Amino acid sequence: MEIKKVGVIGCGTMGAGIVQVCAQSGYQVVVSEINDELLNKGLALINSVLTKSVDKGKISQQDKDSTLARIKGTTNTKDFSDCDLTIEVAIENMDLKKRIFAELDKICPSHTILATNTSSLSVTDMAMATKRPDKVLGLHFFNPVPVMKLMEIVKPITTSDETYEKGKAFGESVGKTIVTVQDTPGFIVNRLLTPIILNAIRMLEAGVASREDIDTAITLGLNHPMGPLALADLVGVDVVLFIANTIYDEFKDPQYAVPTLMKKMVVAGWLGRKVGKGFYEYK
Ligand code: 3HC
Repeated sequence: MEIKKVGVIGCGTMGAGIVQVCAQSGYQVVVSEINDELLNKGLALINSVLTKSVDKGKISQQDKDSTLARIKGTTNTKDFSDCDLTIEVAIENMDLKKRIFAELDKICPSHTILATNTSSLSVTDMAMATKRPDKVLGLHFFNPVPVMKLMEIVKPITTSDETYEKGKAFGESVGKTIVTVQDTPGFIVNRLLTPIILNAIRMLEAGVASREDIDTAITLGLNHPMGPLALADLVGVDVVLFIANTIYDEFKDPQYAVPTLMKKMVVAGWLGRKVGKGFYEYK
């Protein structure tokens, strides 16, 4: 069955970005949060990104209005009952994700594809919380979602080829280039990115260079759009720590062992841009 309506579970930074690109690509979207406050915050974020695009002349006021008209916010999971595809973008907690998948499995019609945007957790585990593991896969977007052109499709051994093909067509329809990866911790991007960020933190910790010089070296020396410490702040220091621990748990590879400075920053609440302080300070 053709995908017409997409359900997004979670409207934080990533969820809001996913909702925006789906609605801008013509899909009807229903998005849920755990309470009205978080829902309104997420919807306000989408509104403000679209307003900036109108101000810059990238889209018309009419485009913005029609995009917003395709988005419906809810705090009731039952509103996913007529979705053709759902994308789970909840916090990275496997028990919570399994509960969400089990609930969606009961609520959604049998044709619905259930996807997760997890950055590193096992998609197979989520699939096995449902009675339709053949219709479960990972659709991994990148931050900021409206800007980043990549989508990793995570294909567990349980996913059918038909589900994969539908996921791929969907990803392309929202303007993303697809890479396909097995269900392994960190997939492609986070498995390669995490050691870069952790090594940058180790260098900072050892006093090898300042935070600015480490980041400038990578932006100007390797032509990355931002340095690894600034990127950790963008992604969330706690998120990078979680990804590193998930990959380490599986492979026991010391390159994924979290540096002490990073652990202390997370304990201190220096989580990056979202709280105004990480490796750098933000207004
Ligand atoms: N939402 C929508 N658009 C955004 C945005 C956001 N949050 N942030 C920036 N943009 C847009 C701007 O509007 C601007 O658009 P324009 O060129 O049409 O005017 C464009 O992006 C460039 O933004 P800025 O001029 O403000 O700033 P920069 O040129 O410095 O770019 C950046 C900012 C796009 C964030 C760039 O630095 C970048 O690409 N950084 C690397 C991001 C990255 O590596 N992301 C992947 C992280 S890993 C991940 O997500 C995986 C997960 O599992 C952890």
